[in-house]
Amino acid sequence: MEKTGWRKPRLVTVVLVGCGAMSKAWLDAVRQVDDLTLVGLVDIDEDRARQRAGEFGLDGVAIGTDLDAILNQTKPDIVFDVVVPPARRDVALTAFRHGCHVLTEKPLADSPDNARAIIDAARAAGRLHAVIQNRRYLADPRRIRRFVESGAIGAPTSIHCDFFIAPHFGGFREEMEHVLLLDMAIHTFDAARYMVNGEPATVYCQEWEPTNSWYHQGSSAMAIFDMGRGIVFTYRGSWCADGLGTSWESAWRIVGERGSLSWDGFDDLRAEVKTDKREGLFDAVEPVAVPPLDPRDRVGGHLGVIQDFIAAVRDGSEPETRGTDNIKSLAMVFAAIDSAETGRRVAITT
Ligand SMILES: NC(=O)c1ccc[n+]([C@@H]2O[C@H](COP(=O)([O-])OP(=O)(O)OC[C@H]3O[C@@H](n4cnc5c(N)ncnc54)[C@H](O)[C@@H]3O)[C@@H](O)[C@H]2O)c1
Repeated sequence: MEKTGWRKPRLVTVVLVGCGAMSKAWLDAVRQVDDLTLVGLVDIDEDRARQRAGEFGLDGVAIGTDLDAILNQTKPDIVFDVVVPPARRDVALTAFRHGCHVLTEKPLADSPDNARAIIDAARAAGRLHAVIQNRRYLADPRRIRRFVESGAIGAPTSIHCDFFIAPHFGGFREEMEHVLLLDMAIHTFDAARYMVNGEPATVYCQEWEPTNSWYHQGSSAMAIFDMGRGIVFTYRGSWCADGLGTSWESAWRIVGERGSLSWDGFDDLRAEVKTDKREGLFDAVEPVAVPPLDPRDRVGGHLGVIQDFIAAVRDGSEPETRGTDNIKSLAMVFAAIDSAETGRRVAITT
């Protein structure tokens, strides 16, 4: 659906707020997008903003600690929000007050109330709001979605994933609660929802803390989701699991009515379907190729999401990772947290 409430500039200007670790990926991407000009950098730690400006040769951009003041000074079309999740609501609401579109890092918000407040503010301002869900912008999730949709393995009946790695981040992740669910599982849950085109309805989740954990709380979690249309999604994840690590994308299995697909999260993507022959107890199966990436599929991680967002600002289209859709993946996270805290199965609502 085309939106018409704003000027559709060819030359787009942007202020980036939050000049920490992740801002490098954003600034790398900004360099590669045509007709996109960075006009300001904001961080509560001004030295970080100055350091990034130096590293990326951004002479002459406005630099400051106060987003409001920098937006008054530079009047950009867009705010790129790369702050920590607790600061996200204030940043977004400030940006919308200035009539800016907002592209934000994941997660969209740090609480259900803040997520709704941000989406409501975008709607009231008539501006675009979307989320960097960069792990959806990869070749294999795109191939899997098309393959499942083609009916090659029949309608999906379940989807399963394992996520086991052991990073030592330091910083805010080792201090926060529900760290795996809030900071990482949004990628994985969004991927699951995307691959089977799920409509998440309920979740039961249990968190645990391995005895050797270096996290404050919630490094490890298991969850069972009802994804609609009879599809079950099981998630097993830990950020505190040394040895035999999985990919950051997780290791996946999708079971359909006529066959199964598996993806190790690296390069091994394969599928098998049953034939008409019986072999003892079993229907014989045969491999079936998962087609390569379709030229229409959007990829490129951060760069791909940013390019699509800029295109949407220019032509008024709705970006794929718009907040109004992404909140459905975020609702899976908050419902899982609710379930882990209460020990009950929880309905997923936005
Ligand atoms: N998409 C991905 O793959 C991916 C990967 C890592 C991190 N992230 C996300 O990126 C975001 C930032 O993570 P990070 O690792 O860069 O964190 P970080 O702590 O390295 O950087 C955050 C920066 O925000 C600044 N900041 C905090 N509050 C602010 C405010 N109110 N105004 C201005 N600046 C403020 C901090 O001073 C800091 O420089 C998080 O939401 C995180 O979940 C996404």
